[in-house]
Amino acid sequence: MTQSPESPSAAGRPARRWWARPWIVPLAVLLGAFLLWKVPPWLGGERAALPLNPGVPLHYPLMILHIGFGTIAFATVCLQLWPWLRARHPAVHRVSGRLYVFAGMLPTALLSVGLILAGPLTVFGKIGTAVWATLSIVTTVVGFVRARQRRFADHRRWMLYSFALVTNVITSRALAYLVLYLPGIGPDIIAFTHFQVEGPWLSWMVNLALVHWWLRRTARRRRAARAGSGRPLPGHAQVG
Ligand code: HEM
Repeated sequence: MTQSPESPSAAGRPARRWWARPWIVPLAVLLGAFLLWKVPPWLGGERAALPLNPGVPLHYPLMILHIGFGTIAFATVCLQLWPWLRARHPAVHRVSGRLYVFAGMLPTALLSVGLILAGPLTVFGKIGTAVWATLSIVTTVVGFVRARQRRFADHRRWMLYSFALVTNVITSRALAYLVLYLPGIGPDIIAFTHFQVEGPWLSWMVNLALVHWWLRRTARRRRAARAGSGRPLPGHAQVG
């Protein structure tokens, strides 16, 4: 029997709407599809996907390492966000979290600095991408440090910002294609922005704004649920 969105679940809590249920499967499918689309062309040697800078012999190895560490970041971010795994196997969460930080996000973001310098982006595009790389490093490091300090609410918040930045790889392509094919304005906008606004700037701002909105919304709901259940709110002294 299916439950309506508002009907109570077996535990007496309101049933969650379908889009609020674990979204780990669609996320994994999306990230996997991106890897299947983007990685194989790079495995064919230096004649691969994008034009490489002939003046920088390290451009190809840098790209391969960047994509390799990026793949680890994609695989481990799915594990990190999986509520079931976090609850049942905290040791796996800790190990895959370290992999995400030290064998995924940090090396891929650091290597992107070489790609920014060697690649064909305009100065405006290079600055936007460098800001994205810097934010990726900062949010991931702060998220890791907060976990070590056992400040888990802060850890969760910073790691969700890190998630917004790692998945920017997808949003930037989606936004660029969306703008390109937007009826009427596509080619005009592209001629004006040269693809250096949508990917290098706009997309990570959109991702961060969405995660920030979601964090505020869930925090409000949690506060309301606590107030409804009579449990004290954090930071509020219990009277009586
Ligand atoms: C953490 C932040 C990241 C930054 C700042 C970043 C930055 C960059 C830069 C500057 C390039 C070269 C673009 C060019 O020369 O036009 C690039 C290429 C690429 N990056 Fe990243 N990247 C990041 C994360 C990732 C992740 C997590 C993946 C996942 C696998 C990834 C996959 C790729 C791929 C496949 C390319 C080659 C471009 C293509 O074939 O379309 N990147 N990235």
